[in-house]
Amino acid sequence: MTEPVLRLRDVVVRFPVAQGIVGLFAPKDQRSVQAVAGVTLDVMRGETLAIVGESGSGKTTLARAINGLLPIASGEAWFRGNPLHNGPDWTAVRREMAMMFQDPVGSLSPRKSVRDLVLEPRIIHGLPLENATETATQVLAMAGLGPQFLARYPHELSGGQARRVGVARALSLNPALILADEPTAGLDVSIQGEILNLLNRNRVRDGLATLIITHNLNILRHVADRVAVMYLGRIVEIGPIEAVLAAPAHPYTAALLSANPELDPRARRARIRLRGETPGLRDRPSGCEFHPRCSHARPECAQRAPLLVPSAGSTHAACHFPLQNDNGSRP
Ligand SMILES: Nc1ncnc2c1ncn2[C@@H]1O[C@H](COP(=O)(O)OP(=O)(O)OP(=O)(O)O)[C@@H](O)[C@H]1O
Ligand SMILES: [Mg+2]
Repeated sequence: MTEPVLRLRDVVVRFPVAQGIVGLFAPKDQRSVQAVAGVTLDVMRGETLAIVGESGSGKTTLARAINGLLPIASGEAWFRGNPLHNGPDWTAVRREMAMMFQDPVGSLSPRKSVRDLVLEPRIIHGLPLENATETATQVLAMAGLGPQFLARYPHELSGGQARRVGVARALSLNPALILADEPTAGLDVSIQGEILNLLNRNRVRDGLATLIITHNLNILRHVADRVAVMYLGRIVEIGPIEAVLAAPAHPYTAALLSANPELDPRARRARIRLRGETPGLRDRPSGCEFHPRCSHARPECAQRAPLLVPSAGSTHAACHFPLQNDNGSRP
């Protein structure tokens, strides 16, 4: 088997908790929260893995840790076989791992022209820049923008155009992996498709691996090979996209999908309402952390944390009583 482009094993990312003077005497594990609480996954060459989950589930935090913008507190991560968890040369890593940030316009420096923005990755990595304007034109063209955009500034771009500049920057160094955080957020449906096609094109041609973070479950089937569902910083289900959409094993996945009727292969599937709110990271429920919101919870769910194990289909789920048939109900 070929080596994964990205390999994560039990990756934990913590944020400090402000506690005042009392906090100084608190046990060490209470001075921080785990926004990513032990994530294990692989992304293969040419593969697109989508990460979904409600706001605050740790998706962006995970991407930022993979890209070195946040430290990995524990666990192990490898990119193309090189460890990321023990102080790699992040500039060298980022030469081959591009990040598209959640906010398309805000992530572009406002004082730089589009020409300079698309050349910036080359400058950061010390690549030759003989025919700079020609190179910038070619890089822009990869994202479907003509040379008339070279002289524009970010505030003169629409959301879709800013996204395209983000795609051009991401593709410009021919990366092995793109981390795309909500690449279609805030865009019209027609433009969403165009942005995703741009990313897809390179996956077919160059074996580009993509980790795409999205709230937009409707785009999943068109872009993702596999999907990982996150809840409170953990993966609760992961598997091939068709298998997960057709027969989600975790009640949380079923609830997310049932809120998107277009995704439901059988429109008859009843909408599963999630009870209550997502708990805070400081008061994680006992046992299965989803149990207070789960309509299928049984007493033992409050006692024992489920492991992510193979379920009936081809997916893995962290649930003591996974759903086993395709209408989201109990066997
Ligand atoms: N800089 C920070 N300091 C402290 N806590 C943070 C910080 N950034 C994120 N968090 C917390 O970490 C958790 C995960 O946040 P994250 O932004 O990764 O979620 P997300 O899944 O990307 O959400 P969204 O879908 O809204 O983008 C949240 O509880 C959030 O409040
Ligand atoms: Mg986010």
